[in-house]
Amino acid sequence: MPKKTDTRLVTGGRRKEWTSGIVNPPVYRASTCLFDSYADLRKRCEDPTAKHLFYARKGTPTQWALDEAITELEGGAGTMLYPSGIAAVTGAMLALVKTGDHILITDSAYEPTRAFADGLLKAMGVETTYYDPMIGAGIESLFRDNTSLVVCETPGSLTFEVQDLPAIIAAAKTRDIYVMVDNTWATPLLLKPLELGADVSVHACTKYIGGHSDVMLGSATANDRTFKKLQKTAFQLGQTAAPDDAFLGLRGLRTLSVRLKQHEKNALVVARWLESRPEVARVLHPAFPSCPGHEIWKRDFAGSSGLFSIILKGGDYPDTAALVDERKYFKMGFSWGGFESLILPSDPRFCRTAVKWDAEGPVIRIHIGLEDTDDLIADLSEGLDRYRERIAR
Ligand SMILES: Cc1ncc(COP(=O)(O)O)c(C=O)c1O
Repeated sequence: MPKKTDTRLVTGGRRKEWTSGIVNPPVYRASTCLFDSYADLRKRCEDPTAKHLFYARKGTPTQWALDEAITELEGGAGTMLYPSGIAAVTGAMLALVKTGDHILITDSAYEPTRAFADGLLKAMGVETTYYDPMIGAGIESLFRDNTSLVVCETPGSLTFEVQDLPAIIAAAKTRDIYVMVDNTWATPLLLKPLELGADVSVHACTKYIGGHSDVMLGSATANDRTFKKLQKTAFQLGQTAAPDDAFLGLRGLRTLSVRLKQHEKNALVVARWLESRPEVARVLHPAFPSCPGHEIWKRDFAGSSGLFSIILKGGDYPDTAALVDERKYFKMGFSWGGFESLILPSDPRFCRTAVKWDAEGPVIRIHIGLEDTDDLIADLSEGLDRYRERIAR
């Protein structure tokens, strides 16, 4: 019988030769790896990509244990680790494009992903077209002879449109175009892009995999036809994840399933309550019919995580200070996926070019942590009361 996911989370990467009699692989703080003899050096030089000690930039058991565990969860040929989530996104993209190519990026993509395409890739002579996240099979109409890559992020981590990955992948396959998915919101537990036919699945492990807001880390898992390209580019760029960070990623991964279930449960409670509030025009949470792509989420995902947005009714961004300032439990910060709740006003108007963002009011992104939902609701209730009073003035 194939291993179940929760078992994979516990056992992944724990090879005896990497853990040598203890539960977790030690943190190998290393640069130089020593060879026993010239013959040993020659032997290990035969394949520097193999998982044997060669030079620590190419990994040690600490990193291999994490990359193997993620590969087991995502499926595919292998995983490269990076020093941040955006390094994983850009490292994978760079591996799959060359000067003269054209690429397609969802309009809902994380802003620094766009910045990379509009900056470095443009300077390299790679042209980008942003597409409507809900385009589905219609993406075919944007393909050109030189289109080499489609970048998806599902759901979008600010506005939560759920993309029709199977339709996009089917269209891309007819032209041999690579498809890369930023799978950070779903984690390897709720969506498996490689099983749906994508070539690369990327995680900002900084978020749920790390899970404790104390590490910057990224991963990119790829299928057979793509993994070597990722590996070659990462090696050429000298991309590597620090051993302490890999250790924290691995420690977070072990409890991902239990944490995520609680994030999901808490987020649904708070989102349902928010939906009933008069200050809220819409809840952008994939599990809610008010979220674009809700039906696709039901079809393709195994659940939801703790990150979603609300659109406020009326008011403008300066008014949101009344809601977000001085919260007891909801702190303000750009990240998410840790054990704590966060709240963030975020304006999609400034990072949209394919589809104009036109909503009823300001967008507030909310990450629901592991606190008691009664406390979280009381905290938000006070903020929403203040917001209502402020916009009534
Ligand atoms: C969807 C998504 N992808 C990638 C990243 C980048 O991750 P990192 O902050 O680790 O570079 C983020 C960070 O917020 C994100 O939200």
